[in-house]
Amino acid sequence: MPLDNPATDAFVDNLLSQMTVDEKIGQLHQYFAFGRFDPEVIRQGRAGSVINAAGALGGQGQSASTSAEVCNHLQKLAQESRLKIPQLFGRDVIHGYRTVFPIPLGQAAAWSPELAEQAAAVAAREATADGIKWTFAPMLDIARDARWGRIAEGNGEDPLLGVNVARAVVRGFQGDDFAQPDRLIACAKHYVGYGTAEGGRDYESGELSEATLRDVYLPPFRAAVQAGAGTVMSAFLDLNGVPATANRKLLTDVLRGEWGFRGFVVSDWASVKELIQHGVAADEAEAALLALKAGVDMDMVSGAYLNTLAASLAAGRVTAGELDEAARRILRVKHLAGLFADPFTEPSRASRDLLRPEARALARRFARESMVLLKNDGGLLPLDERFKHVAVIGPMVHAQAELLGTWAPDGQPSDVTPLSEGLAQAAPKGVSLAFAERADHAVRAVAAADAVVLVVGEHPLRSGENSNVSDLGLPPGQAELVEAVAAQGKPLVLVVLAGRPLAITRQVAQAGAVLYAFHPGLEGGAALGELLFGRASDGQPAAPTGRLPVTLPRATGQVPIYYNHKNSGRPVDSSGEFRYRYVDLPPAPLYPFGHGLAYTRFEFGPAQAASETLRGSLEVSAEVTNAGPRAGAALAQLYVRDRVGSLTRPVRELKGFQRVELAPGETRRIAFTFDIDPSLTDPEAKVQLTIRDDDLREEVDEKVRIPIVDPLAVTAASGTQHAHSTGADLTNEPDAGGRVFARLQPNAAVQVLGTVSGYVKVSLGDGRFAFAKASDLDSGGTPSAQIALDDAMAHAPPAVEIPQPQLATRDTHTTVRGAASDDARLLDAYIFVGSRKVFYRSNRNGADPKRMDFDADLPLRPGVNVITLVARENPDTTTHRTFIIRRDGPNGELLQTPKTEDELSETSDDE
Ligand code: NOJ
Repeated sequence: MPLDNPATDAFVDNLLSQMTVDEKIGQLHQYFAFGRFDPEVIRQGRAGSVINAAGALGGQGQSASTSAEVCNHLQKLAQESRLKIPQLFGRDVIHGYRTVFPIPLGQAAAWSPELAEQAAAVAAREATADGIKWTFAPMLDIARDARWGRIAEGNGEDPLLGVNVARAVVRGFQGDDFAQPDRLIACAKHYVGYGTAEGGRDYESGELSEATLRDVYLPPFRAAVQAGAGTVMSAFLDLNGVPATANRKLLTDVLRGEWGFRGFVVSDWASVKELIQHGVAADEAEAALLALKAGVDMDMVSGAYLNTLAASLAAGRVTAGELDEAARRILRVKHLAGLFADPFTEPSRASRDLLRPEARALARRFARESMVLLKNDGGLLPLDERFKHVAVIGPMVHAQAELLGTWAPDGQPSDVTPLSEGLAQAAPKGVSLAFAERADHAVRAVAAADAVVLVVGEHPLRSGENSNVSDLGLPPGQAELVEAVAAQGKPLVLVVLAGRPLAITRQVAQAGAVLYAFHPGLEGGAALGELLFGRASDGQPAAPTGRLPVTLPRATGQVPIYYNHKNSGRPVDSSGEFRYRYVDLPPAPLYPFGHGLAYTRFEFGPAQAASETLRGSLEVSAEVTNAGPRAGAALAQLYVRDRVGSLTRPVRELKGFQRVELAPGETRRIAFTFDIDPSLTDPEAKVQLTIRDDDLREEVDEKVRIPIVDPLAVTAASGTQHAHSTGADLTNEPDAGGRVFARLQPNAAVQVLGTVSGYVKVSLGDGRFAFAKASDLDSGGTPSAQIALDDAMAHAPPAVEIPQPQLATRDTHTTVRGAASDDARLLDAYIFVGSRKVFYRSNRNGADPKRMDFDADLPLRPGVNVITLVARENPDTTTHRTFIIRRDGPNGELLQTPKTEDELSETSDDE
């Protein structure tokens, strides 16, 4: 939904003009009042939001429930405040509210954005019936390390799957307009890189290169923002040395500048004050300043904003404008959410809207589709008349609460169909089931059975926030149980309930069939029964359709392990001894990303391309045949490999997926339209396209190699919302929409001397943008890209004139002076060296808007340095000028005055 609305802006500006400083600061504070609720906080406007709306517990455990009555009471208190500004109640509605769906990792295994959207819509209807208007979801953290407990809450390891689910869930929560009474405001979290916590240890630091950040970790967030997510949550972690809650580049330059986000940013729980522990702030006041200036608008519960911002304003450390801006963003979202029009919840809604039968039916379907059949030797599943007596054993056979999974504070164990009941309902007549929980009983039950279903796995509190493990094996005692049961030699089906990929190599070998069920939610027991016996409650055949959204490792020591890794100089799929990565393990995982079987077998024909070259977009197709005895759904996955690039690319990247239902013997052709990827910038490159399903461990022949022609026949945009450096100066005249375009052409006359750095923002047409990756000196790539400006467009006057920088060099110390042209006002300016921003100056706080004088230590390296000066006249107009500085004297000193690309191109033959 669009977050722009002139009426909202006018309303909020008018409201702000009536607010005192304290009232504005109050809006920036989220109040947590467990056990010590003080109504005066709300009456006096000292909080803009109340977390959980019940003074409830934070964290992943059960929390005190809320209700329309509680929320209406709090809204009445807000109506007693001077300006009657309504409250916004936020709560962790993560994978359902009262109707609990599979954990997000399980949802991702369904590869079904449609189901994810429908489930989020149910959660929105239920949560709003209890007065909640804002959820802290979706969690969009890419996770490559299964030790990290929070892998349960995300969509796994792949950016494309993450992007698709992100869009769908935001749509599901928010609908077309989150002002509707049954819709929630979404919050894309945890921005960003949270899953990189070292060793999978939650809250610890992470390191990410700019390339991986942009290729892998940012895309789901960008998708959520483009889908209109109203809010974003900053992460706890310290990423590359800057805590995410204090990261102005990511929270402001990228989120707002590049993506145009217009909602508000909330910190994670107390992460503002935690800037002190991180060691970037000396005290609460400094922590508040850092976070606010970075772009965090609301302080979740730490109190740092509430306690210190007024004094900081008086001391001139924060401006009235900065406070206004944060308050404005929060008030805008409240207004867009319709809270000023009506903050109250109709109390009778809960009885109508919670746990409706159709919600339960959806939860059952989603649970069924989230389960992944890893192995099914000899067609052991589904269990049919071959087996008259089935023992169902293991520590969780009577599980109820355990099926809900982490972060289900509003789920009620008594609503859950117990696993034993679900199985009993689904078993065909004539099949007897014997349940045993305790190991000694289990062994006896097995002795009397024809087949065994052994349910193992994790308790939900072993996954989720702060629940990391150092050992990915089954919890203590379970491996021994599998061992003992397997020793009895009965056909053995292993069912795994888990919040993460577990390393179950030995147990998989011991079982005939393995069904990975994650934590499947309140209908999980029933769904499991349907899959195990192959029949849904409506009599229709039921079969597994899930595929792994994460790699399943063989052993803990293999993590991090993920499918879209780089090839290396000695690839794991080559022959010879140098392909092994460990002396004690094969290099492949236990099961790769994308793996999952059905109760039938699919055969894929070779991938065929509709054209022999790749220009703009390409249709790729393959035939898929259901070669087995039952109906089933194949999941065709399109993978691309960029064979040659100036930076290395992953061995496979998922570019599309489609489910196709096939009757036995049926063949269908599935087609994908593959859009040219702007990262494929090398005209010599060949892209390899592969369509496949099932077991991806084997490299198969379904490859087409397509030469890319016209790789840069795309329009590059610079200027608008673009604060990222590029070696190419792409500034040009704005188009009607205020965007500035320049055309890039391959092999054109003007080169950037092979030093194009970082990313070029590229418009793919119809409003979509991407970042084209060029060779990046900072990342060690070879300078091979040749990017040139189209002559006709290259000479349009820049909006802000940036004169030649004056450089005086004492070692690397450099002074740069510039001035705005007559009619321009400089908002702010940056200096990049290569793709690194080394200097930022804001002119908003009273500095001379006409001048910019930088006196900076630029980290110049010997050889060619690309310096880009970026000046912004207003948030939408950006002027870049790029200069090349060479330090190539005997001691690396500066020999030349800086030159622009134009000047250099005249002399480039000599260089
Ligand atoms: C901390 C968690 O990191 C976050 O995901 C959650 O939304 C907040 N607590 C609020 O409970």
